[in-house]
Amino acid sequence: MPKIGDIQLPDFPLLLAPMEDVSDPPFRALCKEQGADVVYTEFISSEGLIRDAAKSVMKLDIYEKERPVGIQIFGAELDSMLQTVDIVEKSNPDIIDINFGCPVKKVVCKGAGAGILKDIDLMVKLTEEMVKRTKLPITVKTRLGWDHDSIRIVEVAERLQDVGCQAISIHGRTRAQMYKGNADWKPIAEVKNNQRMHIPVFGNGDVDSPERAMEMRDVYGLDGCMIGRASIGNPWFFRQVKHFFKTGEHFRPITLEERVDAARRHLQMSIDWKGEKLGVFETRRHYTNYFKGIPNFKEYRMKMVTSDDSVDVFAAFDEVLEAFSGYEFA
Ligand SMILES: Cc1cc2nc3c(=O)[nH]c(=O)nc-3n(C[C@H](O)[C@H](O)[C@H](O)COP(=O)(O)O)c2cc1C
Repeated sequence: MPKIGDIQLPDFPLLLAPMEDVSDPPFRALCKEQGADVVYTEFISSEGLIRDAAKSVMKLDIYEKERPVGIQIFGAELDSMLQTVDIVEKSNPDIIDINFGCPVKKVVCKGAGAGILKDIDLMVKLTEEMVKRTKLPITVKTRLGWDHDSIRIVEVAERLQDVGCQAISIHGRTRAQMYKGNADWKPIAEVKNNQRMHIPVFGNGDVDSPERAMEMRDVYGLDGCMIGRASIGNPWFFRQVKHFFKTGEHFRPITLEERVDAARRHLQMSIDWKGEKLGVFETRRHYTNYFKGIPNFKEYRMKMVTSDDSVDVFAAFDEVLEAFSGYEFA
């Protein structure tokens, strides 16, 4: 069974992917309850943290109930990244994860995120120095390469392992692909099949059904999978995958009551964490996904996403329960 440093994980763990504006403490808590084995924060800018930018600092908040939790950071400057390690350590996470995969222009143009895939020596150097700086396990999340012609992920993963990286999660796309096309898991399997690899190799990209998760385990032989988009509005995805692994059958549909309960708790946890205004505002993006499939839902959705007062949003949840009682989800 895989281990990240001293953290013992179950067989084929399911990891909640770091997702900006999504993987905040309330969402992580919901995913954890539904079986996520490791959760990661949204990515946090090392420069932002050093400047003490409020938004970056707030992202350091973690809760006991979500452990093991990894704080993900990005940056390209050695000094800044080392200072960031010191700052992050104070939040006492279980893991520090380095983002070497973000394809967004404003990150990449500073040589951070996937930008570092153009300078593998620097990627290895940053990892090595960060490993030396902390007793916490350092993990890496990256992509296959900068573009199709420069995929050297087998060699890159081995070098990262050799400097002390404790696990690697690989999104099966290049930076050039952004999110287009299908994730290719074959190169990830090649990393795993490298006889010299002994740290866990987690696959990422397009795991959107229990069958796909099983394929990643049984066909590609990876150590676990990291799940992103499939969990948005569906924190039950982790449970659905685990149920499928255990029984070979699909988990029953998630009921309306469970969905309303999740939306309600999501909102309440967000308010508790960020305050009424931000909590109400930032939870809005999740409702469409929680209630996907319900016909003629617009009227209720509008109520949820237009009011600034949580009382109205909670009332809209009650109305949904009443209006769609007995609705059966696929
Ligand atoms: C809304 C959103 C935000 C993301 N933010 C991050 C991030 O902060 N750090 C990171 O490493 N990857 C981030 N990603 C990429 C995901 O972690 C993941 O690699 C990608 O979505 C592929 O996995 P999936 O097909 O399971 O979604 C983000 C993806 C999405 C959709």
